[in-house]
Amino acid sequence: MLSLHSPEVQSQKKPVHALDFVKTHISSHPRLWVFLAFLFIQVLVISFARNSPPCFPDRSAAVRGPLRDPVVSKPAFDEECPSGRVYVYDLPSMFNKDLPLHNCTDLNPWNWQCGIDNNHGYGGPATELRRVLPGNLSKSWYRTNQFSLELIFHQRILQHKCRTPEPESAAAFYIPFYAGLAVGKYLWVNDTSKRDWHCEMMLQWVKKQKYWKKSNGSDHFMTIGRITWDFRRLTDPGKIWGSTFLNMPAMQKVTRFIIEKAPGDDRDVSVPYPTGFHPKTREILNQWQNFARDYNRRSLFTFIGATRGWVNNDFRGLLLSYCYNEPGSCRVVDCATAQCSTDSSVILEALLGSEFCLQPRGDSFTRRSVFDCMVAGSVPVFFWKRTAYEQYEWFLPGEPESYSVYIDHEEVRNGSSSIKQVLMRYSKEEIKKKREKVIETIPRIVYGMGLRNFEDAFDLALDGVLERIKEEREWPSDR
Ligand SMILES: *[C@@H]1O[C@H](CO)[C@@H](O)[C@H](O)[C@H]1NC(C)=O
Ligand SMILES: *[C@@H]1O[C@H](CO)[C@@H](O)[C@H](O)[C@H]1NC(C)=O
Ligand SMILES: *[C@@H]1O[C@H](CO)[C@@H](O)[C@H](O)[C@H]1NC(C)=O
Ligand SMILES: *[C@@H]1O[C@H](CO)[C@@H](O)[C@H](O)[C@H]1NC(C)=O
Ligand SMILES: *[C@@H]1O[C@H](CO)[C@@H](O)[C@H](O)[C@H]1NC(C)=O
Repeated sequence: MLSLHSPEVQSQKKPVHALDFVKTHISSHPRLWVFLAFLFIQVLVISFARNSPPCFPDRSAAVRGPLRDPVVSKPAFDEECPSGRVYVYDLPSMFNKDLPLHNCTDLNPWNWQCGIDNNHGYGGPATELRRVLPGNLSKSWYRTNQFSLELIFHQRILQHKCRTPEPESAAAFYIPFYAGLAVGKYLWVNDTSKRDWHCEMMLQWVKKQKYWKKSNGSDHFMTIGRITWDFRRLTDPGKIWGSTFLNMPAMQKVTRFIIEKAPGDDRDVSVPYPTGFHPKTREILNQWQNFARDYNRRSLFTFIGATRGWVNNDFRGLLLSYCYNEPGSCRVVDCATAQCSTDSSVILEALLGSEFCLQPRGDSFTRRSVFDCMVAGSVPVFFWKRTAYEQYEWFLPGEPESYSVYIDHEEVRNGSSSIKQVLMRYSKEEIKKKREKVIETIPRIVYGMGLRNFEDAFDLALDGVLERIKEEREWPSDR
């Protein structure tokens, strides 16, 4: 915020002062011209200094991601929104508000869409956690659907301080299309045209907009609440899964926040899956961090999962039986028998009670459980590099070993690595150090709520994309 006493405002006052001076004194004091000319030059110098870009912008800052380096060079002209403002399109409701199922309001494990639009995507209060958490902490937990990011980002960007209602003053454009909901409805319907229909209609609409035509979409961005592989049918070897949304020519320059990105496509920016934890203030966040740090963790590691027992050689099945055979070290939550999707307390208790949590790949490389694990202050153990190390670069620490453990899945399969032995080799001090890094990361991977006074994953994502669009405008030859 500009304060009245900031040098910004004072320098803006000078020309006004000078003009008043001219009006009242010019005729009676002609020799004032000399003084006025001097003032005029001063004003010119000041405005030039304010508008000229730094000679060598720190281009590496945006690659590393926002806020890794707090001294990213910021031009002085818009202190509140140094990378410019964003305009949010008012899309026809068929592309967003009409898409959620409104008649199933609670999390129904048989329907992935249930509860998705509850409380702007955050979900209803997770009352089941009152049993396992202190009262004032359980209030920050919600039954958040893992695919609700499209709604959460839409709500957050509408309230953001850098949103502008005037497209002509915008540096970036947000398309609030709920692509995951539009396509997800038809993923299991044997009719590919249905999965592409909303996407095609939305692109027809946006291509008619004046500001799209100016850039062909390179300063446009959106959010997709499902993994990237649900939108790339033409690159799928069988060419039967999902929609072709991300293969469509008009989408090639549009940046999209997505919960799992495609490795070679820099328009995909992976962002954390939403967890159930949505703190409203830094104070509550700090209380949670202390709670997670001090929790008495009785198990060495935990495995939480719905296994694909019928799939031959399934890695999750292997971890499940390994875990059952190590009852002294491993705490099992078998979602085939536990009510994982309706009672989040079984999951949270296991994560809080364990030093490490095993994170195999799911049906795709990433899973929400990675973020559930870290929010609970448990140290993640990965078996595929693509589960986290090649994703979420703007959010997770740069050095994998600082916050996690990696054990190659092949070594687990052929018995050359024993999970228990690998984990037991870490001293209490080493585990504590990793956990401290995990706990320090929590603000960067959660989506806060209400009047937040801390930067969360959404803030990092928005700052990052605005910075990127600004850089591309200033260095167009890069692309
Ligand atoms: C919700 O409504 C839709 C259409 O109105 C219907 O097809 C669907 O079965 C309903 N779902 C539930 C859980 O009631
Ligand atoms: C929440 O509860 C803990 C433990 O009872 C207490 O230390 C803390 O001050 C409480 N915080 C608030 C905001 O009431
Ligand atoms: C899906 O539709 C195609 C073309 O209509 C058909 O050949 C195929 O057998 C259908 N597949 C299933 C699983 O129903
Ligand atoms: C956008 O694409 C059209 C068609 O390919 C092209 O004619 C036009 O020059 C492009 N505009 C910009 C600003 O790149
Ligand atoms: C197990 O797999 C790892 C990684 O692929 C390999 O380096 C190692 O030689 C294998 N060990 C055995 C005993 O097969």
